[in-house]
Amino acid sequence: MEERRGRKIIMFPLPFVGHLNPMIQLARIFHHRGFSVTILHTSFNFPDPCHYPLFTFRTIPHSNAGGEDPLTQPDASSMDLVAFIRLLRQTYAEPFRQSLAAEVGRGETVCCLVSDAVWMRNTEVAAEEVGVRRMVLITQGLASFCAFAALPLLRDKNYLPIQVSRLDELVTEVPPLKVKDLPVMETNEPEELYLVAIDMIEGANSSSGVIWNTFEDLERLSLTDISSKSQVPIFPIGPFHKHSDNVLPTTKNIEEHVTTNWLNKQEPQSVIYVSFGSLADIEEKEFLEIAWGLRNSEQPFLWVVRPGFIRGTEWLKALPSGFVENIGQKGKIVKWVNQLEVLAHSAVGAFWTHCGWNSTLESICEGVPMICTPCFTDQFVNARYIVDVWRIGIELERTKMDRKEIEKVLRSVMTKEGDGIREMCLKWKEIANVCLGKGGSSSKHLEKLVDHVLSFDS
Ligand code: UDX
Repeated sequence: MEERRGRKIIMFPLPFVGHLNPMIQLARIFHHRGFSVTILHTSFNFPDPCHYPLFTFRTIPHSNAGGEDPLTQPDASSMDLVAFIRLLRQTYAEPFRQSLAAEVGRGETVCCLVSDAVWMRNTEVAAEEVGVRRMVLITQGLASFCAFAALPLLRDKNYLPIQVSRLDELVTEVPPLKVKDLPVMETNEPEELYLVAIDMIEGANSSSGVIWNTFEDLERLSLTDISSKSQVPIFPIGPFHKHSDNVLPTTKNIEEHVTTNWLNKQEPQSVIYVSFGSLADIEEKEFLEIAWGLRNSEQPFLWVVRPGFIRGTEWLKALPSGFVENIGQKGKIVKWVNQLEVLAHSAVGAFWTHCGWNSTLESICEGVPMICTPCFTDQFVNARYIVDVWRIGIELERTKMDRKEIEKVLRSVMTKEGDGIREMCLKWKEIANVCLGKGGSSSKHLEKLVDHVLSFDS
């Protein structure tokens, strides 16, 4: 490891698993190259620092000094995600400014701040005030970002708000997306979503560079498009979690041991792994259709049902009595897994996913075919690319998701040779490995990124 201690990078993740995971993976990459890393994290969703012994964690208090965190109040829990992110940004804007100033005042040379793009311009003034350069981490894919950036234009061209009669129409401005693939979500604050898009782009363009968890070969057209418009350097160095410095020995909790033991008893490529990420939630009716569809498919399955995943219902309460016993050893329902390990297990034959960007990359890296049921924003775009561009999955639209359709799709993925999907998965897995290997595009971009960051304080 090159000796660069005394060079500190300050990171400011968005406090959600799908954003914290890639930020931590990036932190490991920087640490491995000799930087020290301090993570400024909101008191909301503060992670257990014991899991990340390489880094210094500091808590950013919320703005309601002496009172309750506005984000944990009943008003906030009933908000949709767009409104919640607006509240999050408001709550932590000023505390972040103060925490950054305090951190910079500690003496160690600060190379730069790396902040999640969703904090947007919140971080810009704060970094300027203390004279620290700001890099941006974008945790979604390039293609979905291009589509997100186009939202204001698409609204002006009347694609938005989405009309049911146009769902299958091609959006010529962002092919191959159809109207139904546009990265929007149900919200009471539709204008706020456009503002987020505009602000994110301006925040990235006014930064000293953008770090992307993707790789060149996967999203070459979108990369060319963004590079031609961007005024700042772009570093597509992903998939972060597969860089050699990120392959860590893990300690398992009891539930994870039980899951691994169960997987160890299954036939190779026989298990359908089902998880809809860390944020999406569904109606009880949908939950029951998934449960029956899985059971009726007669395929072994491992299903992550997060507490809070089913609206208004406590964990598995909605299942008919005897359902779990009836499944027996054929299926396993858990609250959380180590997804990286599960996807890498030889028993896993398919991943039924909401197509979050981390899940998408993790599945690509293990060569696992995907069944795509996107729930909101970038997930729709990712699903279209998985199915139609990379050809490594099939679509199972949420609106068409009854038990019969689920059974049919699951059986077809697991039994037929499947339109060459498995071969394509292996091909993309290999391409990802090449990008990460010596001389591969992600490795080269990483070297450039390290040089770029080091040039800030010269
Ligand atoms: C959302 C967006 O959809 C995503 O595109 C964006 O970049 C981040 O916010 P999320 O719903 O959390 O993400 O999904 P995803 O991006 O797939 O991230 C989930 C993470 O949680 C993955 O890294 C996955 O490995 C991990 N996970 C999930 C587990 O470790 N265990 C589980 O049981 C479920």
